[in-house]
Amino acid sequence: MTPLTQTPQWQALAAHREMIGTRHLNDFFAADPQRFDRLSLRCGDLLADFSKQRVNADTLALLVALAEARDLSGFLRRMRAGEAINTTENRAALHIALRAERPCHVDGKDVLPDVRATRARMRAVSDAIRAGVWRGSGGHAINAIVNLGVGGSDLGPRMAAQALGAHANVNAGAKLKTRFVANLDPAEFADTVRDLDPARTLFIVSSKTFTTQETLANARAAKTWLGAAADPARHFLAVSNNIPAAQAFGIPAQNCFALPEWVGGRFSLWSAIGLPLACAIGMDAFEAMLAGAREMDDHFFSAPLSENLPVTMALIGLWNTDFLGAGSLAILPYAHRLALLPAYLQQLEMESNGKRVTLDGRNVGCATAPIVWGAAGSIGQHAFHQLLYQGTRTVPIDFIVPLGDAGPEQSALVANALAQSAALMRGQSPEAARRQLLAAGKPQAEADRLTPHLACPGNQPSTTLLLPRLTPRALGSLIALYEHKVAAQGCLWDINSFDQWGVEYGKQMGREIQPRLNGKQDDDNNIDASSAGLLAAIRAMRKS
Ligand code: F6P
Repeated sequence: MTPLTQTPQWQALAAHREMIGTRHLNDFFAADPQRFDRLSLRCGDLLADFSKQRVNADTLALLVALAEARDLSGFLRRMRAGEAINTTENRAALHIALRAERPCHVDGKDVLPDVRATRARMRAVSDAIRAGVWRGSGGHAINAIVNLGVGGSDLGPRMAAQALGAHANVNAGAKLKTRFVANLDPAEFADTVRDLDPARTLFIVSSKTFTTQETLANARAAKTWLGAAADPARHFLAVSNNIPAAQAFGIPAQNCFALPEWVGGRFSLWSAIGLPLACAIGMDAFEAMLAGAREMDDHFFSAPLSENLPVTMALIGLWNTDFLGAGSLAILPYAHRLALLPAYLQQLEMESNGKRVTLDGRNVGCATAPIVWGAAGSIGQHAFHQLLYQGTRTVPIDFIVPLGDAGPEQSALVANALAQSAALMRGQSPEAARRQLLAAGKPQAEADRLTPHLACPGNQPSTTLLLPRLTPRALGSLIALYEHKVAAQGCLWDINSFDQWGVEYGKQMGREIQPRLNGKQDDDNNIDASSAGLLAAIRAMRKS
């Protein structure tokens, strides 16, 4: 495949950037009063307003031409057909099968019967736990679920359980606590179980490989905390692609849920990795979330590229990254219960597209995944919005706004989201700032002195995603939107969005350093001088 940056479509975009790259959004709106109608798209109840992105119809047409040249439609077909698009691990990336109603094939086999069977087991187990039928070793009902997992085995269910907390209803007589432990730091486990009763606590060990250091350490800690008398069959479930390892740990086969190899960790919320979520909100709500994702899937695989919401989001993201030079993407959900969404999307975006070589091993030649960050609005307005207003960087923003009820506080929150998006787009000219200062009674000289400090350049690009309310269905659509945006961008950059070899290298380095810290190896040669110096300092600190 021709290197992306050498395609005529890329060159045309570069020429276009020279024409409009510095044009202010205020001018875009002045030139086209219908801009909102032209640049907003819907899928189900979700509305995406792209009109505050620094593009016009020509930009989008050139971006779609790039997508066509990269055969994005062919990529979608191959993905949907279960082909091994994860080329370095020779696997399909068919997480859509976890919420599909039409057959999905991997290696010629329809995987839906197995998917449905796993979901039926999820329903049986979560119903039994929520109804107080599942009993611990001492005969008590379970009142706490603790998920032990990290990365894709934690971030998705943790984020969704918080997002849908309002939908968590009670099991027989007691509200089921659903908690998550991910960190290797034993403090997280200790803090999480401090107020729990071992006789009423059930652990879910979630690990696709069942080799992850953090998760195995926490699983061992759980065994100790439960005590020798606890029957693992009453206090442990496992979700893994490595059932033998789960059984070797002591979790019986009937308590194990398979995680297919064609589901990447960061795409696994819809699988049995979602079991803690199903326990928290109930299987009906879990399946409503699947339905929302399915609605976005149907749109993604059928809508023309120019009317395709995830594709448009992917193309604009590429424009911001590779033509406007934006190094990051801010995720600002204006909802307390979506506070964990930025962290979830960090893994989805940065572990998927934080890559530098193309599928055939060549340097990609342009910037790929942005650094994803963010926080729940309106909190960020009192923390980092100053940099967005008067800093030196172009920072694209996704405002995610569930409307919720029409109460005064909720309306004020929504108004804040719209106001921030508008103010960051419009900016405040020096003339307007001076007028404001003079109107406040400042003398001319003082007004002149302060004007540069009040002016805001504006022109910060943003997308606003409006949802009627934060329901399981709406959350499912929202997450699927980002999953498909990420996959589409991976295709455009010709990188593999579904492996994570870099992380493996980090784990390998951990295995080299750790023995030197716990005294099993004291020669610090053949490691870098910084690590050797730090190790020596740690030993000295521990001695003192
Ligand atoms: O971060 C690397 C990674 O492999 C992620 O891709 C994955 O979600 C996480 O670690 C946990 O892996 P596992 O589910 O195998 O424990």
